[in-house]
Amino acid sequence: MSIRGKDLFDVDDLEISDVKEIFERAQFFKKHGFQKLTSLKGKSICTLFFESSTRTRISFELAAKRLGADVVNFTASTSSLNKGESFKDTVKTLDAMGIDLYVIRHSEPGSPMMMKKYTNSPVINAGDGIHAHPTQALLDAYTIWEKFGDFKIKIAIIGDILHSRVARSNAKLLKMLGADVTLVGPESFIPEYFENYGVRISHDVEKSISESDAVMGLRVQLERQSGGFFSTLDEYNEFYGINSKRMEIANPIFMHPGPMNRGVEVMEEVSDSDSSVVEEQVTNGVFVRMALLDLILGGVEN
Ligand code: CP
Repeated sequence: MSIRGKDLFDVDDLEISDVKEIFERAQFFKKHGFQKLTSLKGKSICTLFFESSTRTRISFELAAKRLGADVVNFTASTSSLNKGESFKDTVKTLDAMGIDLYVIRHSEPGSPMMMKKYTNSPVINAGDGIHAHPTQALLDAYTIWEKFGDFKIKIAIIGDILHSRVARSNAKLLKMLGADVTLVGPESFIPEYFENYGVRISHDVEKSISESDAVMGLRVQLERQSGGFFSTLDEYNEFYGINSKRMEIANPIFMHPGPMNRGVEVMEEVSDSDSSVVEEQVTNGVFVRMALLDLILGGVEN
């Protein structure tokens, strides 16, 4: 199988062989460093970010430009959506200008699938509400693969699981690749249906970290909460924060998709320590997204 011409709504759209191909292509691009290539010369890529982003938006844009593609950014606030134009007409209008691939982030779960109803070009989900963030999961898994060489590892994903699209996509992808995944947090942050992903659930942060090779911290997503999950951020930090005392037994690597709330889900003594791979995750994000764009659009090196 190949992902050429395919959409990426979530990691379920990929076979293990697709993931391996993406990783190998990302590794190939990483070996070339940040030099500019021409494999997508003549292709037009449109990014549509209806929700804030630093890492995902800029790394997609850099990835596309480093492969020689033309990139246009759709900005909702200055578009004709403000004059009442529908989402459908917006997509059809962009399509009529010859866009070869779309990258969309939206706060509404299912938006990338809705977009696909109006275009034949591939659509990549760059994060849709609490539903999915497949490219984040791919770059996280790539980083683990680089560090450990395989997925025979134990990973604890700690934090606001309930509101996290990263937790959902990571749990699915890491399970698919063979990792032993535990989701960790207060009971109010992990509904029982998460067991359907085939992962463990734990509310014991010390034990989970002490048994892990990798720990992924997740942001407490205050903007997605209606309150009542815990009393204060200090209280959350006391019981669930990732600190050096909790990390010292097993000394796992520390991962975080960003943005981080320093002093809430993680202390600086961990996020800025030698065990932190947060910046490597960001760097790998560019190469993994280069690989995805190249494979989906069938760059000339295919
Ligand atoms: N990890 C992530 O999606 O970060 P951004 O919101 O900055 O894109």
